[in-house]
Amino acid sequence: MSFPRTRMRRLRRTEGLRRLARETRLSREDLVLPLFAVEGRGVREPVASMPGVLRFSVDQLADEAKAVADLGIPAVILFGVPASDAKDGRGSGADAPDGIAQRAVEAVRRAAPGLVVITDVCLCEYTDHGHCGLVEEGEVRNDPSLERLAAAAVSHARAGAHVVAPSDMMDGRVAAIRRALDAAGFPDVAILAYAAKFASAYYGPFREAAESAPAFGDRRGYQMDPPNRREALREMRLDLEEGADVLMVKPALPYLDVLADARRELDVLLAAYHVSGEYAMIQAAAQRGWLDGPRAMEEAVLAIKRAGADWILTYAAKDLARALRA
Ligand code: PBG
Ligand code: ZN
Repeated sequence: MSFPRTRMRRLRRTEGLRRLARETRLSREDLVLPLFAVEGRGVREPVASMPGVLRFSVDQLADEAKAVADLGIPAVILFGVPASDAKDGRGSGADAPDGIAQRAVEAVRRAAPGLVVITDVCLCEYTDHGHCGLVEEGEVRNDPSLERLAAAAVSHARAGAHVVAPSDMMDGRVAAIRRALDAAGFPDVAILAYAAKFASAYYGPFREAAESAPAFGDRRGYQMDPPNRREALREMRLDLEEGADVLMVKPALPYLDVLADARRELDVLLAAYHVSGEYAMIQAAAQRGWLDGPRAMEEAVLAIKRAGADWILTYAAKDLARALRA
């Protein structure tokens, strides 16, 4: 029955009615905070292109992890940023037992025992060419990269990671990592696969923070082509078959159609990464007074939840957790 019998505004009149009518609720439980670990001691350095985001040395990371846990955020995803002179062709630092990521995992586990530790598994932070796989004759080679990625994942598990998250987009890496984890005695370490990861302009600020920009070329030969929606579902189904426990869509806001498709088609936990560029856009506009930063950020992250994400990786997790607690 339509107007005048139906008046949609009846349930919008007061905050109480709006609360009762709400279909989606953002909560602290949905959030995963990305953290960057750098070499040194006492380091807490701002990332210029990501206002509010810091890079921490391992000692400082321990304090930060406690603060994150105290805010009720269930998980962090750690990115190791090695010294630039530690990089080489095979990304040796990626699976070094005393590498930056491994020490970061240990420190966070010790400082905040209840916090879930996820690690990003990739080679781009550790290779001198900045690509996510091994390079031979100027090309990123898929199959030889798998062993390196699996070794990195096992070393993170050994350091104490609960979940490993391959972000390289090599074909077959989920299966290679699952096999290696099981063989090394870590059958209970979960895999969060960056399954539908698109070759995106929105990773710009992250590459400054992680010092992982490719020295030549770009990542379009292995990350997904932005126009492809059906292909994203295929990528996700493949990663599931290979043994992924949770599937991720990345970036988030420009790919909400992909996320909504996955929610409809797949009966699994879904994660979405509200990436550095998405965060930076809102912060930049807010700094100019062009929009209300906190409101715009919450609306963006809520949209990601509404589209179907169970886990939302966002640099705004602490701000949101504070707002949601109030
Ligand atoms: C590394 C990696 C990237 C991001 C997460 N892991 C960058 C890339 O693929 O170039 C992007 C995260 C962000 O932009 O916040 N493979
Ligand atoms: Zn990478």
